[in-house]
Amino acid sequence: MKTYTRDEIYELHKKYTQGAHPERFLDSVWTHSQIVAEIADRICDFLKKTYEVTPNRELVQTGALLHDIGVYKCHDDELNPVQEPGYISHGIEGYKILKKESYPEYLARFPLSHTGTGITTEDIERENFNLELKNYIPVTLEEEIVCYADKFHTKYPAFDTFDKAKSRLEKFDPSKGILMNRFKKKFGIPDVSDLEAKYKDWQEELDHYLTSLSEAKK
Ligand SMILES: [Fe+2]
Repeated sequence: MKTYTRDEIYELHKKYTQGAHPERFLDSVWTHSQIVAEIADRICDFLKKTYEVTPNRELVQTGALLHDIGVYKCHDDELNPVQEPGYISHGIEGYKILKKESYPEYLARFPLSHTGTGITTEDIERENFNLELKNYIPVTLEEEIVCYADKFHTKYPAFDTFDKAKSRLEKFDPSKGILMNRFKKKFGIPDVSDLEAKYKDWQEELDHYLTSLSEAKK
């Protein structure tokens, strides 16, 4: 299995950040990715402790740090999600970036499969998403862990509870709630309270910056 260091992945983020505030954009996505990696590691702990199951932790960490690499293609200069190609496509954009950068398929799949609880052909038809009609769902244990961990932190930036994340997804389709319940049974609910404290100042500062950007636009 090919491995990538944290520094190598950070360099990839640096390469793809863009817009009028590239450093801030990079900080937002990279810090979110690190938070998701920390949450994903706790889910690995839960699996080990509860079921004596040992996921590939290195793969989980790499996948978590790469999962939102496509986000850089899906925001405008003021760091708002774009209409076209649509924020929903950031997973596919990430897949394309990683393939272009010669990352192996098993890593390129992390961006592809992490959106919501995974995007199905039914979702694409129902919501009229501008995506090729395919299933973009987490398949491996490691993909599922990253997908689920991502639900506990948003790039707005804020931590989310299980219930909040579940109800947000249920607005698309009640079956997403069923999938979230299955994830909960499998992976538990990670305790992120110490992470909330650790990243509180960072979040407030970024929130303030994003608010000032949107106010400057008015
Ligand atoms: Fe994410």
